[in-house]
Amino acid sequence: MSNYHIKHLEEYYKVYRKSIREPENFWEEIAEEHFVWRKKWDKVLDWDFSKPQIKWFEGAKLNITENCIDRHLATRGDKTAILFEPNNPDEPAEHITYKQLHQRVNQFANVLKEQGVEKGDRVCIYVPMIPELAISLLACARIGAIHSVVFAGFSSTALSTRINDSDCKMVITSDGSYRGAKTIDLKGIVDEALEDCPSVKTVLVAKRIKSNINMKEGRDKWLQPLLDNASTVCDAEIMDAEDPLFILYTSGSTGKPKGMVHTTAGYMVYTAYTFKNAFQYRDNDVYWCTADIGWITGHSYIVYGPLANGATTVLFEGVPSYPDFGRFWEIVDKHKVNQFYTAPTAIRALAKQGTELVGKYDLSSLKVLGSVGEPINEEAWHWYNDNVGRKKSPIIDSWWQTETGGIMITPIPYVTPTKPTYATLPFIGVQPALMDEKGDELKGNQVEGRLCIKFPWPSIARTIWGNHERYKETYFSAYKNMYFTGDGALRDEVGYYRITGRVDDVIIVSGHNLGTAPIEDAINEHPAVAESAIVGFPHDIKGSALYGYVTLKDAGESRDHNNLRKEINQIITEHIGPIAKLDKIQFSEGLPKTRSGKIMRRILRKIASNEMDNLGDVSTLLNPEVVQSIIDNRL
Ligand code: PRX
Repeated sequence: MSNYHIKHLEEYYKVYRKSIREPENFWEEIAEEHFVWRKKWDKVLDWDFSKPQIKWFEGAKLNITENCIDRHLATRGDKTAILFEPNNPDEPAEHITYKQLHQRVNQFANVLKEQGVEKGDRVCIYVPMIPELAISLLACARIGAIHSVVFAGFSSTALSTRINDSDCKMVITSDGSYRGAKTIDLKGIVDEALEDCPSVKTVLVAKRIKSNINMKEGRDKWLQPLLDNASTVCDAEIMDAEDPLFILYTSGSTGKPKGMVHTTAGYMVYTAYTFKNAFQYRDNDVYWCTADIGWITGHSYIVYGPLANGATTVLFEGVPSYPDFGRFWEIVDKHKVNQFYTAPTAIRALAKQGTELVGKYDLSSLKVLGSVGEPINEEAWHWYNDNVGRKKSPIIDSWWQTETGGIMITPIPYVTPTKPTYATLPFIGVQPALMDEKGDELKGNQVEGRLCIKFPWPSIARTIWGNHERYKETYFSAYKNMYFTGDGALRDEVGYYRITGRVDDVIIVSGHNLGTAPIEDAINEHPAVAESAIVGFPHDIKGSALYGYVTLKDAGESRDHNNLRKEINQIITEHIGPIAKLDKIQFSEGLPKTRSGKIMRRILRKIASNEMDNLGDVSTLLNPEVVQSIIDNRL
């Protein structure tokens, strides 16, 4: 079908209009022609944002792994599906063909079954970026178990919270992980987490760093011997279109992390279709997304989207700075990467190194560059465009979220003219709306407001695990009959969108979503701390960094503030992970509050960002005097 691969702007508008006028016909055609189904749907779409309830392809039966693996065997069995590039550049890359992937997923799926995992059970995956990570997701999907991947940089407390929230029966992990020059004791973190996780019966351990680890009798099992004995044949479990495929946790502005639930058919159709178009993937291309599979970007655009298209997807274990800051470019050169998808924070860190390293390698294979996770600033955009893309490869600044499952606003490369810092046009089928403070939609161009989506797209998350009320409250209550994204955006004179950032208390640090509440809760556990407030402030590499204002229970007591700062960051590392550490911690005698006792973060944010000129009227505060003292002691 011609509209699977959009080739020019006129065609984009034509296909876009069709997708809006007749969404059901549009997605039905895509679903019919590009996927394998055990049974077709009875109804394409059933939705009601007021409940909220969204069902795509109801009645259909399928297994996503048959779409991602089995159906490619006849035509691409010997093509590389996953190209694994290890942390250590001296270790050879591993090419896993579609045939091999098929066998390895089936073996893994059989091991899961043997260990008592059944359809609908939750399996927590806490594995570094090694092939077993991608394979374990697919193995769960093969047998209908719901995977819940936890980024292997989260702490034991963060891990146990997520395991308990969805009552996982099993944890898959490894004996440890490599991260640049460091090794990390992942199994030790799992052991600690599991002290509080009664639902976990089995831990499967992949061997990666060959360290001496503790194996708990009856619970912990080495993965490899089990795989060696498992059959390479495993019939795919036939799933309903709306059966959950996975849970993935994301931070909210308050409360514990939200387990976003994605279901099978809609997620598959949308990630596959967006992958093909947003990256203009062609059959023999080598595609590389540098994200971790622990985040939605890795789920959708390392694993499911690329494999559903029979693509070659690179899986990189390491970090951009090891053994030096040329590593990304060395990999692009070595594997002749055609599409490269990364985050602004990585681009800024690499740009800081100048152009010598990037100039050393042959990057002429690159056709498309992508950016995701946070707004890309103009300087980083130009550096990326000039030095990596050599002004020839379009940059797709793609906006989307864990909740959206797939890319929502993006240029289509070689189709949509790009504009620095703009995510440009909605993807096919996506109907954005900008809302004003009163709840009215801002029509026309040159407007700025809160970004909502008016109509369901196939990969929208269906609920929050175990808490549908919170799902409704968070996403569907701010504006009637709209999905509210939590972001602000503007639409320029030609209808291009620019994302202006979060409008809630979520702060994006190095592309990671961090809610302020869990960090404040962690800090408040320190026995000396009375109260705390976290805000973001601009940082030249991380985009935003965290600034904490902390009041002590006994302000008069003379304590070594530097020690306290270390202790506070230690607590944060234990509760969440090193990604949530504060860059600055200011001890203050009080926090500015409204008369009803609410902390005025707006004021703290301005002080942290050195924007003291326009603090606004502080005289109505409960304690206006603290503002000056906070300014005087600003770090
Ligand atoms: O604020 C937006 C920002 O990242 C948030 C979603 O984060 P997460 O669920 O972790 O998913 C990240 C990867 C899809 C959004 O609400 N964000 C994501 N992409 C962009 C962005 N902000 C500006 N421009 C982007 N391209």
